Amino acid sequence: MLIEQSIAERLGAFPTVRMRRLRRTPALRRMVEETRLSPADFIYPLFVVHGHNVRREVLSMPGVYHLSIDQLAPEIEEISALGIPAVILFGLPASKDPIGYENFDTYGIVQQAVREIKRVNPEVVVITDVCMCEYTDHGHCGIIHDHEVANDETIEIFGRVAVSHAEAGADMVAPSGMMDGQVAAIRRALDGAGFSHIPIMAYAAKYASNFYGPFRDAAQSPPQFGDRRGYQMNPANAREALREVILDIQEGADIVMVKPALAYLDVIRQVRETFPVPVAAYNVSGEYSMVKAAARKGWLDERAVALEILTAIKRAGADLILTYFAKDAARWLK
Ligand code: PBG
Repeated sequence: MLIEQSIAERLGAFPTVRMRRLRRTPALRRMVEETRLSPADFIYPLFVVHGHNVRREVLSMPGVYHLSIDQLAPEIEEISALGIPAVILFGLPASKDPIGYENFDTYGIVQQAVREIKRVNPEVVVITDVCMCEYTDHGHCGIIHDHEVANDETIEIFGRVAVSHAEAGADMVAPSGMMDGQVAAIRRALDGAGFSHIPIMAYAAKYASNFYGPFRDAAQSPPQFGDRRGYQMNPANAREALREVILDIQEGADIVMVKPALAYLDVIRQVRETFPVPVAAYNVSGEYSMVKAAARKGWLDERAVALEILTAIKRAGADLILTYFAKDAARWLK
């Protein structure tokens, strides 16, 4: 919003205007607060693993756990009690191969987790991440031919993965591989299998970011050769993000995501102002772990900083925030 000079003149100035009047007491400050976080804004990521009685903390992400299926019920009850409406699932398969077969297996880890969560509480919105990097032995987000990710074969597999997630009971799928045409391929596959009612949350503007480091520990998904810059976006580009978002909306995306969040608030704002679709932002692993690490050293106040970051992401224009802070933040907001 640009304020014209004439309006600025009419708004007045010191000493008539004193901005501190509305900052005097907590009640006054609350009355004029423009952005208010709510647990309803959050989507909580969960990492599911094979085995029994597994509740293993991820070293680089304190407070985040690998959970086996039997550990999901209490977790889901806690999340629901806190008023968090949705989770997004990431699976660690029993074994990896060049295609990532477990990714579209009816008894794959994510498919089992979806069924278990829907059994515990059918109201929870279960979103699944559709990608290959956790499942492939080379750690890339698609099928490899001649050391390159083969786009068009990969998106066909994404379609199969999405359908198998929907068959397990997923409420929404979230393609994160940054392949061209992935949203269209998934939309086509879902519609063809009778899932035209299942929405797609597209990781539309996903950058080749170094802030994903801790997640790659958590998901055991670092690329075994090269990097992801051949498919994820260059952090230097913002106009390109708008183009990615347009394409995903045209292909059928219901929600578009910007990822990471904190270093990309300008992109969130532009997407929000340009398109009338819900915008999600992913407050990624590195953004979480930085705060955790500094807090452990006593260098930052974890609660205050985390809430400030989440508020900033919402203020920038995010309707939904994927965040590892979801449970803590929901507690702090009570
Ligand atoms: C890819 C995927 C990644 C994240 C979510 N989905 C990692 C990557 O692209 O390397 C990162 C999330 C985070 O850092 O918290 N399936």
